[in-house]
Amino acid sequence: MEIRSAVDFYERHPISCAIILAKLAASRGHLDGLVPEELFPHDQDHYGGLAANDALAQRAGIGPGTRVVDFCAGLGGPARYLAQRHGADVTGIELALARVRGAEELTRRVGLQDKVRIIGGDVRQVPLADASVDVVISQEALLHVPDKPRVLAEAYRILKPGGRLVFTDWVAHFPLSEADRELMWQGMAVTELYDLPAYAAVISRAGFVVGAEDLTAEWGAILTQRLAMYRRLREETQAAGTPAGHDAFYESYVRFVDLVNAGMLGGGRFEGGKPA
Ligand SMILES: C[S@@+](CC[C@H](N)C(=O)[O-])C[C@H]1O[C@@H](n2cnc3c(N)ncnc32)[C@H](O)[C@@H]1O
Repeated sequence: MEIRSAVDFYERHPISCAIILAKLAASRGHLDGLVPEELFPHDQDHYGGLAANDALAQRAGIGPGTRVVDFCAGLGGPARYLAQRHGADVTGIELALARVRGAEELTRRVGLQDKVRIIGGDVRQVPLADASVDVVISQEALLHVPDKPRVLAEAYRILKPGGRLVFTDWVAHFPLSEADRELMWQGMAVTELYDLPAYAAVISRAGFVVGAEDLTAEWGAILTQRLAMYRRLREETQAAGTPAGHDAFYESYVRFVDLVNAGMLGGGRFEGGKPA
């Protein structure tokens, strides 16, 4: 299937609600009485796992009752974690409807539906009222969204005065070649990227007071380990004679890890405050 949007990519993504539930059913024999902690090893679709959520929570001051919106919520992993571990009330915005339905099912199965809701929508046009939430977060997802100024304007609009925006995203420390840009788009639905100072400037232009941290070294170590795991899985499936999965993804992932380790691509964590 040709990639035309992030939704195309996420419709064939290897992590899905059905796959998570099948794994859990195989390991525990049934799905009765699931608790959120059992999902956490499977439902976090970003680098750095639960610690990356804690880093956002700490920087945004998330605690019991904080009204949080998660931009590009995926299967709702960070949203459920922030509700369960930090007591937040979380609304996720997610474009791919299969993931919205998967998020709803996972949330219901672990009994968090009163604190977490994932709604279908585009973060470029958020279906929430002005000045209605305390915190906006996003984990490693805006790389898929063109027109980041519009996304940041939406975050600013829905935040109350004094509210905080904290998120992680890919950055391009140097401009990519046309061939690499095409590879990242075809394999992982990556759209426009900024370098760290340019990203901070775009956030600032949306009205926020900004801070930025470079996560590239941290991500390089995580990605190198993940690539070794993907390689092992591919070798095992190839040895077993079964299809080894999405080749465009694998090819672009190998190149992505090279580019991160070469310091061309990387990650950033950004913090913005809406003036009180
Ligand atoms: C890498 S996943 C991250 C999911 C989640 N943040 C997590 O950490 O588990 C990126 C998600 O962004 C969603 N997405 C992409 N473009 C979007 C948009 N314009 N509006 C809302 N969600 C979008 C994708 O469908 C996908 O589920």
